[in-house]
Amino acid sequence: MIDIHVHLLPGLDDGPADFGEAVEMCGLAAADGVTTLVATPHQLHEEWENTDSALIRRLCAEIESATARAVRVLPGAEIRACPEIPAGLDDQAHSGLLSLAGSRYVLVEPSPFPFAPSLGDLVYELRVAGWQPVLAHPERYGYLTEDPERLRSLVAAGAWLQISAASVMGLNGRRAHEAAHFLIGTRLAHFLASDGHDCVSRPPRMREARAAVAGRWGEALAEALTEGNPRAVIEDRPLEWEEAR
Ligand SMILES: [Fe+2]
Repeated sequence: MIDIHVHLLPGLDDGPADFGEAVEMCGLAAADGVTTLVATPHQLHEEWENTDSALIRRLCAEIESATARAVRVLPGAEIRACPEIPAGLDDQAHSGLLSLAGSRYVLVEPSPFPFAPSLGDLVYELRVAGWQPVLAHPERYGYLTEDPERLRSLVAAGAWLQISAASVMGLNGRRAHEAAHFLIGTRLAHFLASDGHDCVSRPPRMREARAAVAGRWGEALAEALTEGNPRAVIEDRPLEWEEAR
């Protein structure tokens, strides 16, 4: 499996406490069947700006080598939704913003506030600028899940959706659980990722959620969400689903 959303880098956000825990997280991920992690520290978050992309890249390389290359660790970010993202991505040397593994895919964290600037406008602006927005765990936002048509229209506008493994397993509450199953069952979800933060309370686990998806909707969908589609991201290719449209 390939995990495109994990807070793996110490000292940058609410991820691991130190370098040792980061390396331990890689061990948990590898034991769970993950071969590649895209480290996605928060960027442009009100608590964590994290625009030092050189530091993010260096930490990824150091953690990967400390695991004796048991897993690949690629640089990325989870960027808080705001109107500045498209221009920032177009000038990464200046903004420090990072796409996923250097690809055209960008992990966007929806605002917790329903009255934030329109997500639809941001999706549109990113697509026009040639970026592929991936919305992080939409199943966790009541203002998105209470209106499935809103999520459908975001996908129709070209946003891909990343569901968190913990939501599939019911660990993020009943509403997120139901929304995750709805989005996967209606084929509105494109990726499953761990959104892991540490070794204990939010570990980087995907295997159980993958098995739950395979059991309910079949192996092909489970494979696409955890391997095929994430591989297209790190190889900067269109999703196979996208090409088939
Ligand atoms: Fe996250």
